[in-house]
Amino acid sequence: LVEFQLLGNVEVRVGEELIDVGHARQKCVLAVLLVDANREVAVDKLVERVWGGQRLPVRPVGALQTYVSLLRRALASAGSVVISRQRSGYRAAVDAELVDLHLFRSLLAQARAAPAAGRLLGKALGLWRGEPFAGLDTPWVSGLRAELALQRHTARLDLTDIQLRRGKHAALLSGLAAQVVEQPQDERLAGQLMLALYRSGRQADALAQYHRIRHDLAGELGIDPSPSLRRLHQQILAGDPALTPRVQATSARRRGRAVPRELPAATAYFSGREQELAVLTQLTDRAGRRVPGAPRVCLVIGSAGVGKTALAVRWAHEAVGRFPDGQLFASLRGFGPSGTPAAPAEVIRQFLASLGVTPGQVPADPESQAALYRSLLAGRRLIIVLDNVRDPAQVRPLLPGSPGCLVLVTSRNQLTGLAVSVGVRVLSLGVLPEAEARVLLERLLGCDRAGAEPGAVGELVRLCAGLPLALTNVTARVAARPRLPLAVVAAGLGDGQARLDGLGTGDPATDVRSVFSWSYRQLSAGAARMFRLLGIHPGPEIAVPAAASLAGRPAGEANRMLDELAAAHLVSESLPGRYACHDLMRAYAAELAGRYDSREDRRAASARMLDHYLHASHAAARLLRPARDPVTLTAPGPGVTPEVPADRAQALAWFEAEHRVLLSVIAHAGRRGLDVHAGQVPGLMTYFLHIRGD
Ligand SMILES: Nc1ncnc2c1ncn2[C@@H]1O[C@H](COP(=O)(O)OP(=O)(O)OP(=O)(O)O)[C@@H](O)[C@H]1O
Ligand SMILES: [Mg+2]
Repeated sequence: LVEFQLLGNVEVRVGEELIDVGHARQKCVLAVLLVDANREVAVDKLVERVWGGQRLPVRPVGALQTYVSLLRRALASAGSVVISRQRSGYRAAVDAELVDLHLFRSLLAQARAAPAAGRLLGKALGLWRGEPFAGLDTPWVSGLRAELALQRHTARLDLTDIQLRRGKHAALLSGLAAQVVEQPQDERLAGQLMLALYRSGRQADALAQYHRIRHDLAGELGIDPSPSLRRLHQQILAGDPALTPRVQATSARRRGRAVPRELPAATAYFSGREQELAVLTQLTDRAGRRVPGAPRVCLVIGSAGVGKTALAVRWAHEAVGRFPDGQLFASLRGFGPSGTPAAPAEVIRQFLASLGVTPGQVPADPESQAALYRSLLAGRRLIIVLDNVRDPAQVRPLLPGSPGCLVLVTSRNQLTGLAVSVGVRVLSLGVLPEAEARVLLERLLGCDRAGAEPGAVGELVRLCAGLPLALTNVTARVAARPRLPLAVVAAGLGDGQARLDGLGTGDPATDVRSVFSWSYRQLSAGAARMFRLLGIHPGPEIAVPAAASLAGRPAGEANRMLDELAAAHLVSESLPGRYACHDLMRAYAAELAGRYDSREDRRAASARMLDHYLHASHAAARLLRPARDPVTLTAPGPGVTPEVPADRAQALAWFEAEHRVLLSVIAHAGRRGLDVHAGQVPGLMTYFLHIRGD
């Protein structure tokens, strides 16, 4: 096959072989004849086009003749072209399709009318190998070169428009950015880059592009951006849903592209969580109506076994109708016995397969895989569930670049870095309220059994601390022994260690103790110690100063450690500066303290805790009931830093806040026979009654 190439160096190829068509001037003669292929070019025109503006040879017509005969000889072996002498000039007879310039123009013409214009334009642009007529320099050549460059530029813009419509923005980004550097004042180009950036989730960069070109145009030309560019800018500012490509979604469906259905089955006895489900539904409604700025990512966070996955899956099942392009589900293995957390690249490959990409079609490098993943999602409406995530870095590469998809993330961590991003909504899940926990347990146990022993059911609910994982584990045990009275089960669960044993299943994925341990293991040493010591504190909550005394550390440090525990969802910040820990978690903490902290350490912590409440109560009592007989206490032990209220109001506030804690500390100390230093507990009790006014 012979190819005549003008869009680059002027070359003639037969297959792989390059035919020598002589030096620049001779090449120029060939080029002029090929540009006007199959037409006669008059001699004077030829001379003008080949030598224009430069010194003519002594006998131009003769020189022309020589070049033509040299060309004929050179091209004889190639065939496919015949250069003949005409009445007043020369003519190259050739199949125009073999000349790249003509093929280029014909493809552009076809593209204007064709539905598959993208392919035609891509083919046309693929013909270019460099600057047309490289190395040839006459006014005619320059003019033609400029005209071709313009056609190429327009074709590129047209192709980009088509690709943008098909949701290929991610793949276009780098090419567009490079073109903008070359042609900073092209408004159509700038608009395309803005749109591609916006659809890739880079709204700020898109807006920055607008400001750049507006500045350029004003500075260089003294004009404003065109109305259409200004409108695009406004749409980007407003997050206009019309900017989302739709074509691909419909064509994807028409082409029967894979619609993944990866949701696990929903929990059979799902109960409660009305409020949380309503929040999620509201989110989808807004996403469904494409409300600008609607969140597209929802983080469901909470402690181990609280029901994050169950909620996400349950809701995703409800919402499938609104996301017709399917559901993707992946466990990121952030916490669990199954080894390392999943790498985002691994999940992307999994999702590509789910989206119907065959192994042969998967690009080699992770970046192209990620780009393909985002392009496949562009313009489609899917639910993506990323379950059991450890940190934001695991999630970010998996977020689609354009709106339309809803991403549900579950994590035992706070994912702070992600939670503050635009378009991210956080749903924090606590344990089930007692009534809901009871309903769940009754449903799990069945009416017969639950109805027969309502008292024991209540006891089981209490022992499970509203934690769904514990509730399901306990029923799994009970179900295995249909004749065992519930009261016996409840009594068997007892307290502490035994309770955790009783709630265990032997399966590391659901065993309450091992489920907690995955959160515990990621803690820093200081926070881990604080957590264990919280097992000594009877609850229901602890303020920062008391925690500082318990651990024997300064308040600032205690604060940071509690924050870390809250981020890991091992405790929750019930009020600013006050931390709560549900009963099962506390039992787990106490168990760990028993294992890892020496008897003396635990005793010392208990003593500091009692000392703390003793001195703080004393200080409050003095302010609230100054009339009562003053007592002089020995100074608090080392590491104890009790709050000292400044006035009556503060003393009252302290007592209000600590009332329940003081009660439980006193009750707990009584049960355990604690009185670490002689008189601590009786003293505490005295002040408690004292403040209360008894
Ligand atoms: N609202 C609910 N109704 C019924 N069952 C529930 C509910 N919430 C959770 N469960 C059940 O409790 C158990 C633990 O729930 P789930 O696995 O969703 O917890 P999780 O918060 O995702 O825990 P992890 O942090 O370990 O991933 C599961 O067996 C689940 O089916
Ligand atoms: Mg889960």
